[in-house]
Amino acid sequence: MNQLTDRFGRNHHYLRISVTDQCNLRCMYCMPEEGMEFLEPGHVMSFGEIAEVVRVGASMGIRKLRITGGEPLIRKDLEQLIAMLAAIPGIDDIALTTNGLLLGKKAAALKAAGLNRVNVSLDTLDPARFLMISRRGGLQKVMEGIAAAAEAGFHPIKINCVLLKGINEDEISRFLDMSVKEQLHVRFIEYMPIGHADDNWKSHYLPLGRVLEICAEHGYGYERVSGLTGNGPSEDYRITGAKGTFGLIHPVSNHFCENCNRLRLTAEGNLKPCLYWVDELNVRPAVGDDEAIRQLYLRALDIKPLNHEMAAKLADEAQSHLPTDRRMSQIGG
Ligand code: GTP
Ligand code: 5AD
Ligand code: SF4
Repeated sequence: MNQLTDRFGRNHHYLRISVTDQCNLRCMYCMPEEGMEFLEPGHVMSFGEIAEVVRVGASMGIRKLRITGGEPLIRKDLEQLIAMLAAIPGIDDIALTTNGLLLGKKAAALKAAGLNRVNVSLDTLDPARFLMISRRGGLQKVMEGIAAAAEAGFHPIKINCVLLKGINEDEISRFLDMSVKEQLHVRFIEYMPIGHADDNWKSHYLPLGRVLEICAEHGYGYERVSGLTGNGPSEDYRITGAKGTFGLIHPVSNHFCENCNRLRLTAEGNLKPCLYWVDELNVRPAVGDDEAIRQLYLRALDIKPLNHEMAAKLADEAQSHLPTDRRMSQIGG
């Protein structure tokens, strides 16, 4: 029985776990170029602590886990955590969101440990632009990582492409072509204002209506598809005759909060009810006391808001509450 129902009747069975705030890229929409003050090693949850929090969550109804960062593959021996989580009764789907740089090295070991699915961030297919957006090189490594994940048997592999106005919008048709020619699920994502200076965000924010316009301009027929593995926020389509599919994740122009089914756990052990707002509850001191952890899950649901207010932010309207001051790299998306 799912005990994780919030004040608005939403059931929660999805926990996104950030295992580190560090990353080997510095993507312009996620982390400042100069990096930031990262957590001291002692302030990061150990694998054992994460597994305890998940075990209690699973007894309450958590079924799906997603491992995020920063860049989760930076965390040493991540496959050990995957194996620990896969052994927890009730957990039936473990996924990873990665920038792909270390996937070539790790894909087979992750698969063997029990990882079910992989989503890879990829915003451009052009090496110079990759360098500009991520402020580090590595496009070739990411492509090798995607190939290694396919080789290891991950399917479908989802590609996360954050659309940035004036930066990569001219690549929408290339990414659509990728979904036609390859068995990949390409998701276009609206740029979200998490922990950002407003001006920077607004000047690069692009509503995703543009993607369907480009389909029309290219004469692509498409249809809605359902039943892709995973039940994140993506709205999914297939271009007629395509090997793969594409998806739209549009939190700003058309939010999906009414279907929200997720909680987050930050690398230092804070339960975070909503990506957008400031509220968090530190669960780490409760490890060792299952009832105390249980109460913190319930409390997190009690304080979970109905929705974010990114559209209000776009319109320069007042917001009802305080947005998080974390960068995306400190939440994990
Ligand atoms: P699947 O399980 O494969 O469907 O994955 P997912 O889409 O849930 O996870 P992923 O980490 O690939 O996230 C894709 C994009 O969706 C990222 O930009 C996330 O920040 C965004 N996203 C995921 N969950 C939420 C959410 O609850 N709210 C908002 N606003 N964005 C989210
Ligand atoms: N807006 C939208 N998506 C973002 N991501 C990181 N920062 C942002 C942002 N500001 C994406 C990454 C990754 C996923 C976890 O979140 O590209 O694929
Ligand atoms: Fe859920 Fe908050 Fe994401 Fe909306 S923004 S879907 S309420 S986590």
